[in-house]
Amino acid sequence: MLPVFVRSGERVRQPVESMPGVHQTSVDEMLRDAEDATAAGVGGILLFGIPDHKDAVGSEAWNDDGPVQQAVRALKRELPQLVVITDVCLCEYTDHGHCGVVRRATGDVDNDATLELLAREAVSHARAGADIVAPSDMMDGRVAAIRRALDEHHFTDTAILSYAAKFAGPFYGPFREAAESTPQFGDRRSYQIDAGNAEEALREVWLDIEEGADMVMVKPASPFLDIIHRVKHETGYPVAAYQVSGEFAMIRAAADKGWIDCERVMMESLLGIRRAGADVIITYFAREAARLLAGNSPGR
Ligand code: PBG
Repeated sequence: MLPVFVRSGERVRQPVESMPGVHQTSVDEMLRDAEDATAAGVGGILLFGIPDHKDAVGSEAWNDDGPVQQAVRALKRELPQLVVITDVCLCEYTDHGHCGVVRRATGDVDNDATLELLAREAVSHARAGADIVAPSDMMDGRVAAIRRALDEHHFTDTAILSYAAKFAGPFYGPFREAAESTPQFGDRRSYQIDAGNAEEALREVWLDIEEGADMVMVKPASPFLDIIHRVKHETGYPVAAYQVSGEFAMIRAAADKGWIDCERVMMESLLGIRRAGADVIITYFAREAARLLAGNSPGR
């Protein structure tokens, strides 16, 4: 699966400095990338949106004419066979960059007040035609809230891929440049998982499954292969692993310096994630890897 960053406008293709080869694109340019990805054999697209306006509650997240909603409609029209997944979170849409609404008095994230907003965002994505919604916010109870809202709006067939074991840490740095979602104060440790705590990760996974997740995600991937393995074998559920921006950037940067062989390191890192038990891999290398798997040579 290939993650992409969409914003408004036309013929926009803005490079992300810390992720060579990755761009923020307008919907028309995103479609070209998606066509290329489909031709290479990529199975799905994961959409992140960059709104024109941010506010305290992230209200552009459920704007039916936002970049993500437009992108979903365009993809479903032009490439109906491609699986379309949308990232459901507020951090791209809030002016403070946190994944939920922030209590003014304390500066911490209000879990329960966030749930309703995430549900609205997910319903808006489903209305646009998303096959799968992927909540990445890590609020407690959000899978249940989203499932209930989708069902109430008769989107019973829209699946949920929950970012269930999402660890707080330094590997998301380049993404926050790409998605313009760096927290303006504090960090995400009050809602994402402590990297040392495997048991908590498993508890989070089970909770999301009980709340109605159809697939669960482990993220980042390479530093957490043990978690991928445990989640696959202890739950039997479909497991997605996200090779995140920092993992991508490290390989790309070393390869660009000529210190490692990009193709071979990329394929071995993906092979390790697959061997650990991932059914689906989300990676910025999706196009190159799919081309290699199909026996053709990769482009940039
Ligand atoms: C939003 C979100 C993040 C990523 C995916 N969804 C960043 C974060 O939690 O700060 C990271 C993806 C990547 O690093 O490639 N909550």
